[in-house]
Amino acid sequence: MLPRDTNDLLPVKTIPRHFSPVYEASAEDFIRVFGQEGDNHFEIGRPLDMDVPVCINLERLVERSNGIFGKSGTGKSFLTRLLLCGCMYANIASNLIFDMHSEYGWESSAEGGAFVKGLRQLFGDDVLIYSLDAETSRRRNVSVDAEIVLGLNQIEVEDVRPLQDELNLSSTAAESSYLLFDRFKERWLSELLAMDGETLKEFAEDSGAHAGALSALKRKLEQVARQGFVQENATFSAIDQMIDALANGRHVVLEFGKYRYPLAYMLVANIVTRRIHRRWVRQTETYQSSKNKADKPRQLMITIEEAHKFLNPANARQTIFGEIAREMRKYSVTLLVVDQRPSSIDSEVMSQLGTRITALLNDDKDIDSVFAGVSGGSGLKAVLASLDTKQQALILGHAVPMPVVVRTRAYDEAFYRAIGRMVEYTPQAREQARIHADELFG
Ligand SMILES: Nc1ncnc2c1ncn2[C@@H]1O[C@H](COP(=O)(O)OP(=O)(O)O)[C@@H](O)[C@H]1O
Ligand SMILES: [Mg+2]
Repeated sequence: MLPRDTNDLLPVKTIPRHFSPVYEASAEDFIRVFGQEGDNHFEIGRPLDMDVPVCINLERLVERSNGIFGKSGTGKSFLTRLLLCGCMYANIASNLIFDMHSEYGWESSAEGGAFVKGLRQLFGDDVLIYSLDAETSRRRNVSVDAEIVLGLNQIEVEDVRPLQDELNLSSTAAESSYLLFDRFKERWLSELLAMDGETLKEFAEDSGAHAGALSALKRKLEQVARQGFVQENATFSAIDQMIDALANGRHVVLEFGKYRYPLAYMLVANIVTRRIHRRWVRQTETYQSSKNKADKPRQLMITIEEAHKFLNPANARQTIFGEIAREMRKYSVTLLVVDQRPSSIDSEVMSQLGTRITALLNDDKDIDSVFAGVSGGSGLKAVLASLDTKQQALILGHAVPMPVVVRTRAYDEAFYRAIGRMVEYTPQAREQARIHADELFG
């Protein structure tokens, strides 16, 4: 709503009177409402029937957790790449991407056999690639900055419950890990794995655990211990280097290579994110007591695909991801959740998402969940169900002044060139150019 006497947009609270004149929105009107690309505005697409950019406000985007939804093949991964490019060129947040299918770091194939560029190719050394399986990454000609291994010593009891489904573990079995922790503290897992039938029975009797459940837990966790990326003992040094890089404004794509299955993905994502969370909470506390701007933690956005595995109602209350989604921007860490089944995500988490970008969904439950807590959602439901099967999306929430449907911006050669031009003007690029000039000319 635009009052006659000012230029300040207001939210729409009333509808026009009968016989009010109607004007078609012009390109200028779109710019006035959605802003102009540059600074912290980024073109995400164009209206279906006009050729003007629709921009999202990146600053408002990264302040909260956000979601990208849509059926398989509707363009979620492409939308995610676009948003990440926006955040990176504007240098508005560091990004950590848990890249289950190796789509974001380096070249990946699109439908029809074409290849699309990864973030490292567009942003150079600002983007680091870490891998759980460096061999596979290298075979794809990806230069890997470091390999990540996990140690049994790093697995905490909180990691067990989210894996319950993947490991086919009963809840009694999962819960007996807490009894082990009570007794053995950090060594709970190695102690469990070292138990033979006799000691296991003794422990069950002493602690009140169910012996059958305990031995099931042992069997299932042996399966975890056998994973190629898991060692007996590992230090946090590679993970901490990665976290340092994020704290210093760089971005990290973590590839999984041949370990592209939920068990590996969830275990790694939980362990890494818990460590990040602890660090950002500590840093925030330092900042709160010093009130010194230099102590403020760097804004960080963590991208997870198949987000419902972490954020379903059973897990959302227990995992670190649920905590981040709920406590929102307090600690400068937010999530970008990417999922094809939003109805499987805890409704409390869904209602906390600041901006939702949604491609076509067919299932009524999924459609309902996207609009949870949105006033006027019913009219938009019909809009969502009528989107094309590809490259169209409804954007709704904090980062846009009003809900809008767009043809998603094409992620193609023209886009790479546009990003290249924008990157030239980022503060880091200018700083790098200055250092380079100093080296050349002394
Ligand atoms: N913004 C876009 N630019 C170019 N191609 C796109 C875009 N969005 C979708 N596509 C096409 O649609 C296909 C499916 O998109 P993708 O992001 O992989 O779907 P999803 O992740 O939802 O399964 C891509 O391989 C590509 O060919
Ligand atoms: Mg995808």
